[in-house]
Amino acid sequence: MILHLKQVLTPAELSSIHEVLRGAEWQAGRDSAGAQAASIKNNEQLSHQSGPMIDIRQRVLAALDRHPEFFSATLPRRVFPPRVNRYGGESNFFGNHVDNAIRFAPDTGLRVRTDISCTLFLAEPSAYEGGELIFQESNTQRHVKLPAGDAIIYPGTTLHRVAPVTRGYRLACFFWVESMVRENDRRQLLFELDRSIVRLREAYGDNEHSVALTGTYHNLLRQWCDT
Ligand code: NI
Repeated sequence: MILHLKQVLTPAELSSIHEVLRGAEWQAGRDSAGAQAASIKNNEQLSHQSGPMIDIRQRVLAALDRHPEFFSATLPRRVFPPRVNRYGGESNFFGNHVDNAIRFAPDTGLRVRTDISCTLFLAEPSAYEGGELIFQESNTQRHVKLPAGDAIIYPGTTLHRVAPVTRGYRLACFFWVESMVRENDRRQLLFELDRSIVRLREAYGDNEHSVALTGTYHNLLRQWCDT
């Protein structure tokens, strides 16, 4: 399931983040890439433990916490600490790859299995040319370029790339989620069920059937979740 999460960040949060980024120092993205990715990864990142990165990370994690669909769609067990990257100038693309399956959080050393990859767009699409996140599924491609503050989440198994940025700068926050539900198909079923229950309750209020369906949802969670 590839899912667009709208308005994860408010306009006020976005401008605070842009303010923080104004004084930030960038480093070559390939420094943190595996051997294969290093040859196709040409972007810049904030260092993991820099002041601006810690500040932005806190704002992003708080925003994810309150987003109604993020929890339901990812059922997070662990979130790899979000980072920020930049594409533009000479450092402007990332070729086709599948993200590493296991990441080690630099601060805690905790292993995170990357069930779900997330990109949160920080720059408005009009601020740069190119920079689409492109998903390759069998023989079709999907191009994604979202408004600032919106996010895309997709299975970690997805082959993807970032098209070259030919004008301006593409800024984004990226991170991974290890889900309590490892299988994509099960996670998608749970998400669809949860969303339908929410819409039924909005339309008709609570009744014995919505209560029963909610019970079914939780009983499925009990079967499929590892905590
Ligand atoms: Ni990637």
